[in-house]
Amino acid sequence: MNKQKRKLLKGSYDLYIINACNLNCKGCSVLDYKGKVTIGLMTLQDVKDIVANLNRLCVTVQELKILGGEPTLHKQFNDIVTYLRTQKGLYKKLTLVTNGLNFTPSVIETTKLFDNVIMSVYPNMPIDEKIVHSGLHEHLKKYVDIEYWPQNMFEQYGEGKQNTAEENWNACWQKDNCLTLTNEGLYHCTISMNEKSDLCSYENLEDVVSYVERDTPLDMCKKCPWPPKMENWSSLKPEVDSKNYKKGVELINAVEILYAKDTINHNDVRRGKRIRYGNRS
Ligand SMILES: C[S@@+](CC[C@H](N)C(=O)[O-])C[C@H]1O[C@@H](n2cnc3c(N)ncnc32)[C@H](O)[C@@H]1O
Ligand code: SF4
Ligand code: SF4
Repeated sequence: MNKQKRKLLKGSYDLYIINACNLNCKGCSVLDYKGKVTIGLMTLQDVKDIVANLNRLCVTVQELKILGGEPTLHKQFNDIVTYLRTQKGLYKKLTLVTNGLNFTPSVIETTKLFDNVIMSVYPNMPIDEKIVHSGLHEHLKKYVDIEYWPQNMFEQYGEGKQNTAEENWNACWQKDNCLTLTNEGLYHCTISMNEKSDLCSYENLEDVVSYVERDTPLDMCKKCPWPPKMENWSSLKPEVDSKNYKKGVELINAVEILYAKDTINHNDVRRGKRIRYGNRS
């Protein structure tokens, strides 16, 4: 069969599947952007529609990131990820970005379907330590690469020293790392997506490739100070977040990795680790 070669689109592409979260970070790029929520709730069908556009264009993205809001809270989280796993040529690497506070047994199984997991670690919420201590890190790392991102400082979008569009564009890390896939088309960064500026439709391959590979600023770069002002991370609802952190830790602590005991003497039995869930006393 004459298979068409897929065009590789460099960079990391974000898919915001849910606009709800168990934390309330002040200045969250999509749930508190200038005080507003800028993303919606995607259904599995929305994801399939976006994938159909990328398949029609015959492109492969270097990295596809699944995020939100907190993506693991999506009711169709498993369906979406299982479906994306069937789309072999669509991406080189499939990544989950999560705050790690919803590791139910089902979310753990779905997490294993990714290539890479990025866990954001917020001040006074050391989920990295909890995940390592519980054995969950050791278990997950057999299936996925894990990165912990300490997020002590938050960018204040729209605030910062006003530079030229070129200076902003040249200094900006978002343009290659936060390209955003939406139902209406592709944005080069979270800010242009938030402001609905500089959209590139999925109409034809040439336009998409030149949009992705451009070396000139977006219209939005004129108004977007980069680098933005930084502030210490804080919560809009500290009491709610502290309660949800405790719940997240309870879920993590409920995971118990059992090392199979060497009681069977058949050489052909592969001994490994299995995972058990339940409350620790
Ligand atoms: C929008 S969150 C979604 C995934 C998940 N809820 C989490 O927190 O990891 C994706 C990433 O963007 C980061 N982020 C959001 N707003 C930010 C800001 N204003 N400055 C710096 N990083 C931000 C988060 O810390 C997280 O690493
Ligand atoms: S955890 Fe914080 S950064 Fe991530 S989506 Fe929720 S509010 Fe935004
Ligand atoms: S608008 Fe320009 S400077 Fe601002 S985040 Fe996007 S690419 Fe970067």
